[in-house]
Amino acid sequence: GDKKVAQTPPMGWNSWNVWGTSVTEERVKASADQMLQSGLAGHGYGYINIDDAWEAGRDADGKIQTNEKFPDIKALGDYIHGLGLRFGIYSSPGTKTCGGYTASYQHEQQDADSYAAWGVDYLKYDWCSYEDVAKGDHSLPSLQKPYLVMSDALSKVNRDIVFSFCQYGMGDVWKWGAETGGNSWRTTGDIQDNWGSLHDIYTHQAGHEVYAGPGHWNDPDMLMVGIVGFGNTHPTHLKPNEQILHMSMWCLLSSPLLIGCDMTRLDPFTLALLSNDEALDINQDPLGKPAARVTTADDKDVWARPLFDGTHAVGLVNGTDEPATITARWSDLGVKGKQPVRDLWLHKDLGAFADSYSVEVPAHGCVLLKIGKSK
Ligand code: DGJ
Repeated sequence: GDKKVAQTPPMGWNSWNVWGTSVTEERVKASADQMLQSGLAGHGYGYINIDDAWEAGRDADGKIQTNEKFPDIKALGDYIHGLGLRFGIYSSPGTKTCGGYTASYQHEQQDADSYAAWGVDYLKYDWCSYEDVAKGDHSLPSLQKPYLVMSDALSKVNRDIVFSFCQYGMGDVWKWGAETGGNSWRTTGDIQDNWGSLHDIYTHQAGHEVYAGPGHWNDPDMLMVGIVGFGNTHPTHLKPNEQILHMSMWCLLSSPLLIGCDMTRLDPFTLALLSNDEALDINQDPLGKPAARVTTADDKDVWARPLFDGTHAVGLVNGTDEPATITARWSDLGVKGKQPVRDLWLHKDLGAFADSYSVEVPAHGCVLLKIGKSK
């Protein structure tokens, strides 16, 4: 159908980074409650997404069953909707999910029907055991097939469901994800709880920006913030400046913003990081043009994107282990003359500058700027 979903990048929560396979109905409900109580719902975070480990086998008619941790999935969907939030679920196109649970192979329409009946608004569809079905064939038709099958099934249900591809960027999925029915596609492997992983992921997004726009987004994976650890074990190992870089880049890149942490234990830093409206406005900018890396030298980058109000968002991104001065040049943005500059983490107007703006950026850090005057 001509569903109009994900016109801006989806924002919400996903169970995986904090709960892994120990996700339960109770924990999902608590996350939904906290989305409201923390105030984050008011900043635009709306999806409550269950990742892997809700599935059981199938009944005699082939209908997918939930395991004992999810006694009434329809009621859970109703509960989430009752809070004004949206409900997301997970499956895989093979016989098993990555966690070894029952997946959708040859039951795609039946599963799409079940999701619609449960009130599902978002489906994350992981590759994993489909590798066996594909027999290792990574040609374009083979990579596209399972996503086309599920996309077709979803188009036949009477509900608009965001379709999120999770196949880790195989076959340059960003080039064909949109035409295959994807509203987003993971571009890389799983984000890990360390700087090396974050650095690897953001540096690999350069060039993908031309393939994304309203309704179809690159997905560099979930936010590694707050208490994580596949079982609620520890605060993220990312340092504060690394988390600021993480959030800044995900906003510049128009990435889905899926909080990966324990919503019941949000500390003030994490809450401030996630609720900076000036950063979120970049992520949700209606023009939907993700940032390009306009310059890069020795791991010091300038990423920039035009915004709908005629201004530009700019990230000065320092991937090195030492503080470094980085310069945004107006010529790289296509603007001229004196331009006002605002720092979106300090929430401060810095004055007007001709031709360029330079500032010292902390190690593994990012300065996020808005340049120009709103129309
Ligand atoms: C691999 C995905 O990339 C993760 O985000 C998560 O969904 C797990 N599979 C679940 O098994």
